Amino acid sequence: MEHYMVKGGTPLSGEVEIAGAKNAALPIIAASIMTNETVLIENVPDVSDIRTLLNAIRSIGAHVEKVDRHSYRINGSPINRAAPVDNEYVRKIRGSYYLIGSLLGKYKTASVALPGGCNIGLRPIDQHIKGFKALGADIRLRPPGLVDARAENLSGAHIYMDVVSVGATINIMMAAAMADGLTIIENAAKEPHVVDLASFLNSMGASIKGAGTDVIRIRGVKRLHGTEYSIIPDQIEAGTFMFAAAATRGDVVIRNVIPKHLESISAKLLEVGCQIEESDDAVRVVATRRLGNTNVKTLPYPGFPTDMQPQITILLGLSNGTSIVTESIFENRFKYVDELTKMGAHITVEGNTAIIEGVSGYTAANLSSPDLRAGAALVIAAMAAEGFSEIYDIHYIERGYEDFPEKLRKLGALIDKVDTEDDKRRFIFRAG
Ligand code: UD1
Repeated sequence: MEHYMVKGGTPLSGEVEIAGAKNAALPIIAASIMTNETVLIENVPDVSDIRTLLNAIRSIGAHVEKVDRHSYRINGSPINRAAPVDNEYVRKIRGSYYLIGSLLGKYKTASVALPGGCNIGLRPIDQHIKGFKALGADIRLRPPGLVDARAENLSGAHIYMDVVSVGATINIMMAAAMADGLTIIENAAKEPHVVDLASFLNSMGASIKGAGTDVIRIRGVKRLHGTEYSIIPDQIEAGTFMFAAAATRGDVVIRNVIPKHLESISAKLLEVGCQIEESDDAVRVVATRRLGNTNVKTLPYPGFPTDMQPQITILLGLSNGTSIVTESIFENRFKYVDELTKMGAHITVEGNTAIIEGVSGYTAANLSSPDLRAGAALVIAAMAAEGFSEIYDIHYIERGYEDFPEKLRKLGALIDKVDTEDDKRRFIFRAG
Protein backbone atom coordinates (compact mmCIF):
# COMPACT_ATOMS: atom_id res chain seq x y z
CA MET A 1 0.00 0.00 0.00
CA GLU A 2 1.37 3.41 -0.95
CA HIS A 3 2.42 5.44 2.06
CA TYR A 4 5.04 7.98 3.09
CA MET A 5 8.32 7.07 4.68
CA VAL A 6 10.12 9.82 6.56
CA LYS A 7 13.49 10.03 8.22
CA GLY A 8 13.20 12.85 10.70
CA GLY A 9 15.74 15.08 12.34
CA THR A 10 16.63 17.44 9.46
CA PRO A 11 15.74 21.14 9.86
CA LEU A 12 13.84 22.37 6.80
CA SER A 13 15.49 25.16 4.87
CA GLY A 14 14.99 26.93 1.56
CA GLU A 15 11.98 28.22 -0.33
CA VAL A 16 8.60 26.73 -1.07
CA GLU A 17 5.91 27.92 -3.49
CA ILE A 18 2.31 27.72 -2.29
CA ALA A 19 -0.46 26.48 -4.61
CA GLY A 20 -3.92 27.96 -5.15
CA ALA A 21 -6.40 27.56 -2.30
CA LYS A 22 -8.36 24.30 -2.43
CA ASN A 23 -11.20 25.73 -0.38
CA ALA A 24 -11.54 28.68 -2.78
CA ALA A 25 -11.16 26.55 -5.90
CA LEU A 26 -14.02 24.21 -4.89
CA PRO A 27 -16.77 26.88 -4.77
CA ILE A 28 -15.26 28.76 -7.73
CA ILE A 29 -15.42 25.62 -9.89
CA ALA A 30 -18.99 25.01 -8.71
CA ALA A 31 -19.90 28.63 -9.54
CA SER A 32 -18.19 28.52 -12.94
CA ILE A 33 -21.11 26.53 -14.37
CA MET A 34 -23.61 29.29 -13.48
CA THR A 35 -22.99 30.97 -16.86
CA ASN A 36 -23.40 29.45 -20.31
CA GLU A 37 -20.26 31.29 -21.40
CA THR A 38 -16.73 29.95 -21.00
CA VAL A 39 -14.78 30.66 -17.82
CA LEU A 40 -11.00 30.39 -17.49
CA ILE A 41 -9.76 29.60 -13.98
CA GLU A 42 -6.07 29.80 -13.13
CA ASN A 43 -3.99 28.83 -10.10
CA VAL A 44 -6.18 25.76 -9.50
CA PRO A 45 -4.33 23.38 -7.15
CA ASP A 46 -3.63 19.92 -8.55
CA VAL A 47 -5.11 17.93 -5.65
CA SER A 48 -7.55 15.05 -5.62
CA ASP A 49 -10.54 16.97 -4.16
CA ILE A 50 -10.37 19.35 -7.14
CA ARG A 51 -10.02 16.54 -9.67
CA THR A 52 -13.06 14.89 -8.07
CA LEU A 53 -15.18 18.06 -8.36
CA LEU A 54 -14.07 18.61 -11.96
CA ASN A 55 -15.16 15.03 -12.71
CA ALA A 56 -18.47 15.69 -10.92
CA ILE A 57 -19.28 18.70 -13.14
CA ARG A 58 -18.11 16.77 -16.22
CA SER A 59 -20.47 13.94 -15.28
CA ILE A 60 -23.48 16.30 -15.42
CA GLY A 61 -22.49 17.58 -18.85
CA ALA A 62 -20.18 20.56 -18.25
CA HIS A 63 -17.32 20.92 -20.67
CA VAL A 64 -13.99 20.97 -18.82
CA GLU A 65 -10.77 21.59 -20.73
CA LYS A 66 -7.42 21.36 -18.96
CA VAL A 67 -5.30 24.21 -20.32
CA ASP A 68 -2.25 23.39 -18.22
CA ARG A 69 -1.60 21.78 -14.85
CA HIS A 70 -3.23 24.68 -12.97
CA SER A 71 -5.69 26.19 -15.49
CA TYR A 72 -9.06 25.03 -16.73
CA ARG A 73 -11.58 26.30 -19.25
CA ILE A 74 -15.10 25.40 -18.10
CA ASN A 75 -18.37 25.77 -19.98
CA GLY A 76 -21.61 24.92 -18.20
CA SER A 77 -23.99 25.33 -21.14
CA PRO A 78 -24.33 21.60 -21.98
CA ILE A 79 -25.42 20.67 -18.43
CA ASN A 80 -28.44 18.41 -18.20
CA ARG A 81 -30.46 20.35 -15.63
CA ALA A 82 -33.00 17.59 -15.06
CA ALA A 83 -30.56 14.85 -14.03
CA PRO A 84 -29.77 14.36 -10.34
CA VAL A 85 -26.12 14.98 -9.48
CA ASP A 86 -25.27 11.64 -7.99
CA ASN A 87 -22.24 9.71 -9.09
CA GLU A 88 -19.08 8.18 -7.70
CA TYR A 89 -17.45 11.63 -7.55
CA VAL A 90 -20.11 13.73 -5.87
CA ARG A 91 -20.41 11.66 -2.72
CA LYS A 92 -16.65 11.61 -2.16
CA ILE A 93 -16.09 15.24 -1.27
CA ARG A 94 -17.82 17.80 0.85
CA GLY A 95 -17.20 20.58 -1.66
CA SER A 96 -19.73 19.00 -4.04
CA TYR A 97 -22.55 20.44 -1.91
CA TYR A 98 -21.67 23.76 -3.53
CA LEU A 99 -23.41 22.38 -6.61
CA ILE A 100 -26.71 22.78 -4.74
CA GLY A 101 -26.22 26.56 -4.54
CA SER A 102 -24.87 26.98 -8.05
CA LEU A 103 -27.46 24.80 -9.83
CA LEU A 104 -30.33 26.20 -7.75
CA GLY A 105 -29.19 29.74 -8.54
CA LYS A 106 -28.88 29.07 -12.26
CA TYR A 107 -31.70 26.61 -12.99
CA LYS A 108 -33.92 27.10 -9.89
CA THR A 109 -33.70 23.37 -9.41
CA ALA A 110 -30.99 21.08 -8.05
CA SER A 111 -30.85 17.50 -6.93
CA VAL A 112 -27.48 16.67 -5.41
CA ALA A 113 -26.21 13.70 -3.39
CA LEU A 114 -25.15 14.58 0.14
CA PRO A 115 -21.45 15.15 0.54
CA GLY A 116 -18.67 13.14 2.06
CA GLY A 117 -15.45 14.83 3.15
CA CYS A 118 -13.16 14.60 6.12
CA ASN A 119 -14.30 12.61 9.08
CA ILE A 120 -13.96 15.34 11.68
CA GLY A 121 -17.34 15.08 13.35
CA LEU A 122 -20.96 15.78 12.64
CA ARG A 123 -21.25 18.32 9.84
CA PRO A 124 -24.89 19.37 9.47
CA ILE A 125 -26.21 21.46 6.56
CA ASP A 126 -29.18 23.01 8.36
CA GLN A 127 -27.88 26.56 7.77
CA HIS A 128 -27.55 25.93 4.03
CA ILE A 129 -31.14 24.65 3.97
CA LYS A 130 -32.38 27.56 6.06
CA GLY A 131 -30.83 29.98 3.55
CA PHE A 132 -32.21 28.22 0.46
CA LYS A 133 -35.68 28.14 2.05
CA ALA A 134 -35.48 31.84 2.87
CA LEU A 135 -34.81 32.49 -0.83
CA GLY A 136 -38.04 30.63 -1.64
CA ALA A 137 -36.79 27.13 -2.42
CA ASP A 138 -38.57 24.00 -1.34
CA ILE A 139 -35.98 21.58 0.09
CA ARG A 140 -36.55 17.84 0.46
CA LEU A 141 -34.16 15.16 1.59
CA ARG A 142 -34.86 11.87 -0.12
CA PRO A 143 -33.16 8.51 0.02
CA PRO A 144 -30.45 7.61 -0.76
CA GLY A 145 -29.08 10.87 0.64
CA LEU A 146 -30.21 13.30 -2.06
CA VAL A 147 -31.00 16.97 -1.43
CA ASP A 148 -33.76 18.18 -3.76
CA ALA A 149 -34.04 21.96 -4.03
CA ARG A 150 -36.71 23.54 -6.24
CA ALA A 151 -38.13 27.03 -6.60
CA GLU A 152 -40.62 28.69 -8.95
CA ASN A 153 -38.61 31.78 -8.38
CA LEU A 154 -35.81 32.76 -5.99
CA SER A 155 -36.34 36.09 -4.19
CA GLY A 156 -33.82 38.02 -2.12
CA ALA A 157 -34.18 37.68 1.65
CA HIS A 158 -32.66 38.81 4.93
CA ILE A 159 -30.90 35.77 6.40
CA TYR A 160 -29.34 35.60 9.86
CA MET A 161 -26.96 32.66 10.20
CA ASP A 162 -27.23 30.88 13.57
CA VAL A 163 -23.63 29.66 13.31
CA VAL A 164 -20.78 31.12 11.32
CA SER A 165 -20.53 28.65 8.45
CA VAL A 166 -18.17 28.92 5.50
CA GLY A 167 -20.14 26.39 3.46
CA ALA A 168 -23.56 27.90 4.14
CA THR A 169 -22.35 31.46 3.46
CA ILE A 170 -20.90 30.34 0.12
CA ASN A 171 -23.89 28.24 -0.90
CA ILE A 172 -26.39 31.00 -0.11
CA MET A 173 -24.23 33.58 -1.88
CA MET A 174 -24.27 31.50 -5.08
CA ALA A 175 -28.03 30.92 -5.04
CA ALA A 176 -28.72 34.60 -4.18
CA ALA A 177 -26.43 35.85 -6.98
CA MET A 178 -29.19 35.00 -9.48
CA ALA A 179 -32.26 35.58 -7.26
CA ASP A 180 -34.64 38.54 -7.70
CA GLY A 181 -33.75 41.51 -5.51
CA LEU A 182 -31.51 41.97 -2.50
CA THR A 183 -30.25 39.25 -0.15
CA ILE A 184 -28.51 40.18 3.08
CA ILE A 185 -26.53 37.48 4.90
CA GLU A 186 -25.86 38.44 8.52
CA ASN A 187 -23.28 36.67 10.69
CA ALA A 188 -21.59 35.56 7.47
CA ALA A 189 -18.24 33.75 7.40
CA LYS A 190 -15.31 36.06 6.60
CA GLU A 191 -12.74 33.50 5.39
CA PRO A 192 -10.47 34.53 2.47
CA HIS A 193 -12.14 31.90 0.28
CA VAL A 194 -15.56 33.50 0.89
CA VAL A 195 -14.08 36.77 -0.38
CA ASP A 196 -12.46 35.01 -3.33
CA LEU A 197 -15.74 33.44 -4.43
CA ALA A 198 -17.47 36.84 -4.19
CA SER A 199 -14.72 38.42 -6.33
CA PHE A 200 -15.06 35.60 -8.85
CA LEU A 201 -18.87 35.95 -9.04
CA ASN A 202 -18.51 39.74 -9.36
CA SER A 203 -16.10 39.21 -12.24
CA MET A 204 -18.93 37.21 -13.88
CA GLY A 205 -21.31 40.15 -13.46
CA ALA A 206 -22.76 39.44 -10.00
CA SER A 207 -23.30 42.24 -7.51
CA ILE A 208 -21.93 41.17 -4.13
CA LYS A 209 -20.76 43.65 -1.51
CA GLY A 210 -19.36 43.20 1.98
CA ALA A 211 -17.66 39.80 1.56
CA GLY A 212 -14.95 39.66 4.21
CA THR A 213 -17.23 41.35 6.76
CA ASP A 214 -20.04 39.65 8.63
CA VAL A 215 -22.76 41.27 6.50
CA ILE A 216 -22.84 40.36 2.81
CA ARG A 217 -25.27 42.12 0.46
CA ILE A 218 -26.10 40.38 -2.79
CA ARG A 219 -28.20 42.06 -5.44
CA GLY A 220 -29.40 39.32 -7.79
CA VAL A 221 -28.72 39.57 -11.52
CA LYS A 222 -30.55 37.85 -14.40
CA ARG A 223 -27.46 36.33 -15.97
CA LEU A 224 -23.76 35.84 -15.40
CA HIS A 225 -21.09 35.97 -18.08
CA GLY A 226 -17.70 34.39 -18.80
CA THR A 227 -14.54 35.55 -17.03
CA GLU A 228 -10.87 34.84 -16.44
CA TYR A 229 -9.87 34.47 -12.83
CA SER A 230 -6.86 33.43 -10.74
CA ILE A 231 -7.46 31.75 -7.37
CA ILE A 232 -5.86 33.08 -4.15
CA PRO A 233 -2.96 31.21 -2.51
CA ASP A 234 -3.78 28.48 -0.01
CA GLN A 235 -3.71 29.88 3.51
CA ILE A 236 -3.70 26.41 5.08
CA GLU A 237 -0.97 24.95 2.88
CA ALA A 238 1.14 28.02 3.71
CA GLY A 239 0.41 27.66 7.43
CA THR A 240 1.31 23.97 7.31
CA PHE A 241 4.76 24.79 5.87
CA MET A 242 5.19 27.54 8.48
CA PHE A 243 4.62 25.00 11.26
CA ALA A 244 6.83 22.44 9.50
CA ALA A 245 9.65 25.01 9.52
CA ALA A 246 9.08 25.75 13.21
CA ALA A 247 8.78 22.12 14.35
CA THR A 248 12.02 21.10 12.59
CA ARG A 249 13.80 24.25 13.86
CA GLY A 250 14.34 25.32 10.28
CA ASP A 251 14.49 28.45 8.16
CA VAL A 252 11.94 28.51 5.32
CA VAL A 253 10.67 31.21 2.99
CA ILE A 254 7.08 30.49 1.99
CA ARG A 255 6.33 32.20 -1.34
CA ASN A 256 3.13 33.10 -3.20
CA VAL A 257 1.14 33.87 -0.05
CA ILE A 258 -1.02 36.74 1.16
CA PRO A 259 0.62 37.50 4.54
CA LYS A 260 -2.59 39.15 5.80
CA HIS A 261 -4.36 35.76 5.56
CA LEU A 262 -1.64 34.24 7.76
CA GLU A 263 -1.77 36.75 10.61
CA SER A 264 -3.33 34.48 13.24
CA ILE A 265 -0.76 31.79 12.38
CA SER A 266 2.22 34.19 12.37
CA ALA A 267 1.04 35.68 15.69
CA LYS A 268 1.13 32.25 17.39
CA LEU A 269 4.56 31.44 15.94
CA LEU A 270 5.90 34.77 17.22
CA GLU A 271 4.38 34.08 20.63
CA VAL A 272 6.24 30.77 20.97
CA GLY A 273 9.55 32.31 19.93
CA CYS A 274 9.91 32.01 16.13
CA GLN A 275 11.21 34.83 14.00
CA ILE A 276 8.84 35.89 11.25
CA GLU A 277 9.69 38.17 8.33
CA GLU A 278 6.96 39.28 5.97
CA SER A 279 7.25 40.78 2.52
CA ASP A 280 4.54 41.50 -0.07
CA ASP A 281 3.93 37.91 -1.07
CA ALA A 282 6.20 35.82 1.13
CA VAL A 283 6.78 34.99 4.75
CA ARG A 284 9.95 33.60 6.30
CA VAL A 285 9.82 31.46 9.43
CA VAL A 286 12.99 30.85 11.44
CA ALA A 287 13.23 28.73 14.57
CA THR A 288 16.64 28.32 16.11
CA ARG A 289 15.83 26.73 19.45
CA ARG A 290 13.18 24.86 21.39
CA LEU A 291 10.00 26.92 21.33
CA GLY A 292 7.80 28.09 24.18
CA ASN A 293 4.23 27.25 25.16
CA THR A 294 0.96 29.05 24.47
CA ASN A 295 -2.80 28.56 24.48
CA VAL A 296 -4.92 28.67 21.35
CA LYS A 297 -8.60 28.40 20.51
CA THR A 298 -9.82 27.75 16.98
CA LEU A 299 -12.28 30.34 15.72
CA PRO A 300 -13.83 31.52 12.46
CA TYR A 301 -11.60 33.87 10.42
CA PRO A 302 -9.78 36.06 11.41
CA GLY A 303 -9.33 33.75 14.40
CA PHE A 304 -6.96 30.80 14.44
CA PRO A 305 -8.19 28.29 11.78
CA THR A 306 -9.49 24.88 12.81
CA ASP A 307 -7.66 23.52 9.76
CA MET A 308 -4.37 24.48 11.49
CA GLN A 309 -5.29 22.92 14.84
CA PRO A 310 -3.47 19.58 14.41
CA GLN A 311 -0.35 21.37 13.10
CA ILE A 312 -0.10 23.71 16.10
CA THR A 313 -0.78 20.86 18.53
CA ILE A 314 2.17 18.96 17.05
CA LEU A 315 4.40 22.01 17.50
CA LEU A 316 3.24 22.65 21.07
CA GLY A 317 3.80 18.97 21.86
CA LEU A 318 7.51 19.71 21.40
CA SER A 319 7.52 23.07 23.17
CA ASN A 320 8.68 23.94 26.64
CA GLY A 321 5.87 23.90 29.22
CA THR A 322 2.13 23.30 29.19
CA SER A 323 -0.14 24.47 26.38
CA ILE A 324 -3.89 24.25 25.92
CA VAL A 325 -5.55 23.90 22.52
CA THR A 326 -9.32 24.36 22.38
CA GLU A 327 -11.25 23.27 19.29
CA SER A 328 -14.40 25.35 18.99
CA ILE A 329 -15.49 24.59 15.40
CA PHE A 330 -15.68 20.79 15.07
CA GLU A 331 -16.43 18.38 17.90
CA ASN A 332 -14.26 15.45 16.89
CA ARG A 333 -10.98 16.84 15.72
CA PHE A 334 -8.44 15.33 18.12
CA LYS A 335 -8.44 11.79 16.77
CA TYR A 336 -4.83 12.13 15.64
CA VAL A 337 -3.68 12.57 19.27
CA ASP A 338 -3.65 8.76 19.73
CA GLU A 339 -1.11 8.58 16.89
CA LEU A 340 0.96 11.33 18.44
CA THR A 341 0.95 9.51 21.77
CA LYS A 342 2.69 6.61 19.98
CA MET A 343 5.50 9.10 19.27
CA GLY A 344 5.88 9.95 22.94
CA ALA A 345 3.71 13.08 23.07
CA HIS A 346 2.08 13.89 26.42
CA ILE A 347 -1.39 15.10 25.50
CA THR A 348 -4.66 14.63 27.35
CA VAL A 349 -7.89 15.33 25.52
CA GLU A 350 -10.91 16.37 27.55
CA GLY A 351 -13.90 17.10 25.35
CA ASN A 352 -12.86 19.80 22.93
CA THR A 353 -9.66 20.68 24.80
CA ALA A 354 -6.17 19.20 24.51
CA ILE A 355 -3.80 19.73 27.42
CA ILE A 356 -0.27 19.40 26.16
CA GLU A 357 2.82 18.82 28.30
CA GLY A 358 5.68 19.53 25.91
CA VAL A 359 8.32 16.80 25.48
CA SER A 360 11.85 17.39 24.25
CA GLY A 361 11.45 15.15 21.18
CA TYR A 362 9.17 12.66 19.42
CA THR A 363 10.16 9.10 18.62
CA ALA A 364 9.60 7.67 15.14
CA ALA A 365 6.50 5.51 14.68
CA ASN A 366 4.12 3.98 12.17
CA LEU A 367 1.16 6.30 11.89
CA SER A 368 -2.21 6.46 10.18
CA SER A 369 -3.70 9.73 8.87
CA PRO A 370 -7.20 10.17 10.28
CA ASP A 371 -8.04 13.10 7.98
CA LEU A 372 -6.50 15.66 5.64
CA ARG A 373 -5.01 18.24 8.01
CA ALA A 374 -4.13 15.78 10.79
CA GLY A 375 -2.38 13.67 8.16
CA ALA A 376 -0.18 16.61 7.13
CA ALA A 377 0.45 17.39 10.80
CA LEU A 378 1.62 13.81 11.46
CA VAL A 379 4.10 14.18 8.59
CA ILE A 380 5.46 17.27 10.41
CA ALA A 381 5.73 15.23 13.62
CA ALA A 382 7.62 12.52 11.71
CA MET A 383 10.03 15.12 10.27
CA ALA A 384 10.69 16.40 13.78
CA ALA A 385 11.27 12.89 15.20
CA GLU A 386 14.62 11.11 15.10
CA GLY A 387 14.50 7.96 12.98
CA PHE A 388 12.22 6.38 10.38
CA SER A 389 8.45 6.85 10.51
CA GLU A 390 5.82 5.55 8.12
CA ILE A 391 2.55 7.38 7.48
CA TYR A 392 -0.42 5.50 6.03
CA ASP A 393 -3.77 6.61 4.59
CA ILE A 394 -2.04 9.35 2.64
CA HIS A 395 -5.01 9.63 0.25
CA TYR A 396 -6.37 12.09 2.84
CA ILE A 397 -3.26 14.26 2.54
CA GLU A 398 -3.40 14.11 -1.26
CA ARG A 399 -6.93 15.52 -1.17
CA GLY A 400 -5.57 18.92 -0.26
CA TYR A 401 -1.77 19.20 -0.62
CA GLU A 402 -0.17 19.42 -4.05
CA ASP A 403 3.19 17.64 -4.34
CA PHE A 404 3.52 17.48 -0.54
CA PRO A 405 6.53 15.10 -0.36
CA GLU A 406 8.21 16.78 -3.36
CA LYS A 407 7.93 20.25 -1.80
CA LEU A 408 9.24 18.95 1.53
CA ARG A 409 12.16 17.20 -0.19
CA LYS A 410 13.12 20.51 -1.84
CA LEU A 411 13.39 21.91 1.69
CA GLY A 412 15.77 19.11 2.67
CA ALA A 413 13.29 16.71 4.26
CA LEU A 414 13.95 13.01 3.86
CA ILE A 415 10.54 11.78 2.71
CA ASP A 416 9.33 9.53 -0.08
CA LYS A 417 6.18 7.83 -1.22
CA VAL A 418 6.88 4.11 -0.99
CA ASP A 419 4.83 1.07 -1.87
CA THR A 420 6.85 -2.16 -1.81
CA GLU A 421 9.46 -3.52 0.60
CA ASP A 422 12.01 -2.76 -2.13
CA ASP A 423 10.95 0.91 -2.18
CA LYS A 424 11.39 1.02 1.58
CA ARG A 425 14.85 -0.58 1.45
CA ARG A 426 15.91 1.90 -1.25
CA PHE A 427 14.65 4.83 0.86
CA ILE A 428 16.46 3.60 4.00
CA PHE A 429 19.65 3.16 1.96
CA ARG A 430 19.40 6.66 0.46
CA ALA A 431 18.40 8.36 3.72
CA GLY A 432 21.21 6.59 5.55
C1 UD1 B 1 -15.09 24.61 5.59
C2 UD1 B 1 -13.79 24.06 5.06
C3 UD1 B 1 -13.07 23.28 6.14
C4 UD1 B 1 -12.90 24.14 7.38
C5 UD1 B 1 -14.23 24.75 7.81
C6 UD1 B 1 -14.06 25.77 8.94
C7 UD1 B 1 -14.22 23.70 2.71
C8 UD1 B 1 -14.48 22.72 1.61
N1 UD1 B 1 -14.09 23.19 3.96
O1 UD1 B 1 -15.90 23.51 5.96
O2 UD1 B 1 -11.80 22.90 5.62
O3 UD1 B 1 -12.43 23.31 8.43
O4 UD1 B 1 -14.83 25.45 6.71
O5 UD1 B 1 -13.19 26.78 8.57
O6 UD1 B 1 -14.09 24.90 2.51
N2 UD1 B 1 -22.55 24.06 10.82
C9 UD1 B 1 -23.86 23.91 11.21
N3 UD1 B 1 -24.82 23.94 10.26
C10 UD1 B 1 -24.55 24.12 8.95
C11 UD1 B 1 -23.21 24.29 8.56
C12 UD1 B 1 -22.22 24.26 9.52
O7 UD1 B 1 -24.14 23.73 12.41
O8 UD1 B 1 -25.48 24.14 8.14
C13 UD1 B 1 -21.48 24.04 11.84
C14 UD1 B 1 -20.47 22.92 11.62
O9 UD1 B 1 -20.91 21.70 12.20
C15 UD1 B 1 -19.25 23.47 12.29
C16 UD1 B 1 -19.36 24.98 12.02
O10 UD1 B 1 -20.72 25.22 11.69
O11 UD1 B 1 -19.33 23.26 13.68
C17 UD1 B 1 -18.48 25.49 10.90
O12 UD1 B 1 -18.69 24.71 9.74
P1 UD1 B 1 -18.48 25.31 8.28
O13 UD1 B 1 -17.83 26.64 8.38
O14 UD1 B 1 -19.77 25.19 7.55
O15 UD1 B 1 -17.45 24.28 7.67
P2 UD1 B 1 -17.45 23.71 6.21
O16 UD1 B 1 -17.95 24.75 5.25
O17 UD1 B 1 -18.06 22.36 6.21
